[in-house]
Amino acid sequence: MADSVTLAVPEHRPALRHWNGGGMTATGLGQHPPTGGSTVRRLAWVIAAAAAVTAALAVFGAEHSPNYTFGLFGSSGTGAISLKSRISTGILALALVQLLLALWMYGRVPGVGAAPSQVGRLHRATGIVLFLATLPVAVHCMVAYGVQTTSARVTVHSLAGCFFYGAFLSKILVVRSRQLPGWVLPTAGGVLVAVIAVLWYSGALWFFNGYQLPGG
Ligand code: HEM
Repeated sequence: MADSVTLAVPEHRPALRHWNGGGMTATGLGQHPPTGGSTVRRLAWVIAAAAAVTAALAVFGAEHSPNYTFGLFGSSGTGAISLKSRISTGILALALVQLLLALWMYGRVPGVGAAPSQVGRLHRATGIVLFLATLPVAVHCMVAYGVQTTSARVTVHSLAGCFFYGAFLSKILVVRSRQLPGWVLPTAGGVLVAVIAVLWYSGALWFFNGYQLPGG
């Protein structure tokens, strides 16, 4: 355990207890390490929960008839697209803040020392704001368009949008778990940041770039 780091683990962040710097062990402080079989079962439940939410949204979105006149906070047409793209950019910025705060909690930001306990609370509050900010955008996407497969970009965006909510549920399940290996939480968080980047690239950047992807 020469590689271990000491973390002031807040009570509401039990999953951080598993971190040991190498990030690949299953040992929590003062707990019995879970057996390989139980870890696989717990991981399977987390993945199944994400898959169920993703599939439910994808089926709903594919069956739903688009309502292209649906507005967003009083805007419609290009106004709604522009507003969504700006909100999405704010969401991407919040995701990057989340990434930095998480790296700080894991002692991975050089030169700033150990993260004070407020960092965990800030990470949680920012995550809630981020999640709430996605809702009007996603509701507009779902109602106005639903899941569409008219091009690779639109297919990837639609499925990534559905997957985001599955991945978000998984992240919450993982963060609340005391029984999963240390690498699972940063993986779940990293996946969320990556999905937000994909959504921004395939929706907002496409709009800002004159309705085409850069280089496309
Ligand atoms: C809930 C699942 C989601 C589905 C099924 C979905 C689907 C779509 C579709 C089909 C489009 C139109 C693409 C086009 O024709 O060019 C679109 C656009 C867009 N989406 Fe989503 N999306 C979802 C979630 C999200 C989320 C979570 C975000 C942001 C965090 C987002 C941001 C955008 C943006 C910025 C646009 C471009 C503006 C527009 O065309 O209205 N979407 N979405």
